[in-house]
Amino acid sequence: MFLFLIVVALITFYFLLKKHKKNDLEQFPEPPAKFLFGHALEVSSTTNLLDTFTKFTTVYGSTVRLRLGFILTSLLTTDYKLIEFILSSNQNLRKSLNYTFISPWLGNGLLLSDGAYWKQHRKILTPAFHFEILKQFVQVFQSVGNVLIDNLRKCEESPSIDLHPLVTLCTLDTICETAMGTKINAQKGENNEYVHSVKEMCRIVIDRCLSPIKLFRVTYWMTKDYYIQKKVLHILHEFTTSVITSKKQTKNSKSDDKKSVFLDLLLKFSKDQSLLSDEEIREEVDTFMFEGHDTTASAICFALYALANHPKIQKTVLEEQRELFGDEKDPIIAYQELQNMKYLELVIKETLRLYPSVPMIGRYTQEDFLFEGQVIPKRTNVALYIYGLHRNPEYFPEPEKFDPDRFNNLNGFLPFAYIPFSAGPRNCIGQKFAMLEMKSFISKVIRHFELTPAVPRHELILSVETVLKSANGIKVGLKKRI
Ligand code: HEM
Repeated sequence: MFLFLIVVALITFYFLLKKHKKNDLEQFPEPPAKFLFGHALEVSSTTNLLDTFTKFTTVYGSTVRLRLGFILTSLLTTDYKLIEFILSSNQNLRKSLNYTFISPWLGNGLLLSDGAYWKQHRKILTPAFHFEILKQFVQVFQSVGNVLIDNLRKCEESPSIDLHPLVTLCTLDTICETAMGTKINAQKGENNEYVHSVKEMCRIVIDRCLSPIKLFRVTYWMTKDYYIQKKVLHILHEFTTSVITSKKQTKNSKSDDKKSVFLDLLLKFSKDQSLLSDEEIREEVDTFMFEGHDTTASAICFALYALANHPKIQKTVLEEQRELFGDEKDPIIAYQELQNMKYLELVIKETLRLYPSVPMIGRYTQEDFLFEGQVIPKRTNVALYIYGLHRNPEYFPEPEKFDPDRFNNLNGFLPFAYIPFSAGPRNCIGQKFAMLEMKSFISKVIRHFELTPAVPRHELILSVETVLKSANGIKVGLKKRI
């Protein structure tokens, strides 16, 4: 009887809610949905999400209405004008609800905060990415990159190696050293607990987005992941806090080798202008840790995979390296030389078009707004589907083709059709850092190794796991260059 009453209550609630939401967003088409579940079953796995969303936005309309269960209604869009409208507006800066899963780790860091708080912090943090600061990191990229090459050497002549685990440890070492001035030596197998906790936290976030049980706080509390999260959060926060404390204790707030890392700058702001509390600094450093390693690792691996499978393009990348450095495999590279790797930059741009590390971003509307005669009501989650936008043949002819040269000819190029780093006021603050880091590691690998397609041939299974990855790894063959 009790069960019966619950079912009746749920069904009544469903119809009331459907009626209410339908009135709000009814102008947008809804792909066929399952009773009670909505579209939840179709987006329940990290590997079918892209195909499903691409089908929805190509078959039913560039902006569609989606339902997760019968409670959450969202819009999914690849509509150029809507994306431009949302990203360039100063009114739609709040992130959509699924971002809250990461807030136990990042708190009110730049990625998640909004309103006046976000604006003030964005202003404070922007100078930390000035090129005079970034210049100092080139040396970190080189030393961390040397360890990557050592690790890859252990696998050379192997017909198939999965780059992703090695490159992820490399970018984790890089972000720790540049954000906190701390060497964690993840590539050498040290600090396993911290490295493991970063991985676990990223996994839990995506699991919560996809699992109906973990989606809601009340039911999430009953799962094992809730307890794992508690444990790993303790490790993550304790690690950052201890680095901050020890930095504060050193009289000179500079790292040992006299370069200013992001944390030094944040501590300086907090001392000079009392702008940031210890907790706020911790949240910003944790945000860099999260945003700044998985994103670049995926992009580097996808670029190397594309080069392995496009020998002519790889040859052009190598020729550019030889023009800059001759046959030297480990030259001391200056900031300006990274800037001069123009062809490699096209390769990275094309990689981020086909494999955007962040395949979609979300906004939560704070006001009703009128878009081309249609009302998009307050409190709507809007998912901006970058992956779909980047593969639209209207903007990118032969979209599946890996063709770096398409970025050489930008006549008639529409700026919001290519947004791997998002765009507008909330774009990626770390994009210049990321570009330098990616150029540094990719060029180093190419100078050392000839990349070949993996044997047996490896087809990617793209998977959305907070950032875009491949469920079966990103495999290539490696041959030492003589
Ligand atoms: C290939 C590498 C990267 C890609 C593709 C990328 C992409 C993005 C995208 C799409 C956003 C917007 C997110 C949203 O609106 O929800 C973003 C925001 C952000 N990124 Fe990156 N990112 C990369 C690397 C980095 C790095 C290396 C750092 C830090 C060192 C970083 C720090 C941030 C921060 C702090 C934000 C939030 C900015 C704000 O809301 O004001 N990112 N990134």
